[in-house]
Amino acid sequence: MANKTIKLIITRQDSPNSSPYKETFEIPYRENMNIISALMETQKNPINANGEKTTPVNWESNCLEEVCGACSMVINGVPRQACSTLVDKLGTPIYLEPMATFPVMRDLAVDRSRMFDSLKKVKAWIPIDGTHDLGPGPRMPEKKRQWAYELSKCMTCGVCLEACPNVNSKSEFIGPAPLSQVRLFNAHPTGEMNRGERLDTLMEDGGLAGCGNSQNCVQVCPKGIPLTTSIAALNRDTNIQSFKNFFGSDYAY
Ligand code: SF4
Ligand code: FES
Repeated sequence: MANKTIKLIITRQDSPNSSPYKETFEIPYRENMNIISALMETQKNPINANGEKTTPVNWESNCLEEVCGACSMVINGVPRQACSTLVDKLGTPIYLEPMATFPVMRDLAVDRSRMFDSLKKVKAWIPIDGTHDLGPGPRMPEKKRQWAYELSKCMTCGVCLEACPNVNSKSEFIGPAPLSQVRLFNAHPTGEMNRGERLDTLMEDGGLAGCGNSQNCVQVCPKGIPLTTSIAALNRDTNIQSFKNFFGSDYAY
């Protein structure tokens, strides 16, 4: 394997408002490299394939084990995590681009605030008073806990938003991940207190009506979260909620 190299063709952008451009790097191959270790080679030796000195490539990463979601980027046209994508599975050249759904900060690093703002909008949390010991929380039936656990694996990586044709700069649609989190927090015995408010938010602009049922989201989610099942369940829940609102029932089920 001596002298074997890998070609990386990276879409770069120097600042949030500058124009993107492509730069090619030829890096030394090692066995079992992931995309992060390939990118680290470009930092170690920021010389492009033309032999010109350039700036080190910028990207985000943290856990390096597909848990934090920070390293999401588009690899050979597919949105996925750079830390869990092995070079050996891709061949060469490898095309790396930032996700287009989010504003680019620099090179492959994007600003995922859009997704975190949506989580705030739908109150994706359990409202408890943390100033004193409340004792053990209410127990969930095991069957419900099992599917809720699957939804809780979301790492806000953003690839489901990237794959969704209805999430873009012209649309307010919050996208699959925040929708699925509504189902998760509504299922929690304490989170249920805000169920009506969350569902009302999903009936506003940017909510469920934005889903075009392309089903791309569920195919790209690295955690196997049943996003389309969540969206179908929320459609049913918002229908019931709109009847409750019309007939003047309160939020409690
Ligand atoms: S639902 Fe899946 S793809 Fe979407 S942000 Fe969460 S982990 Fe990523
Ligand atoms: S670095 Fe955390 S998911 Fe890749």
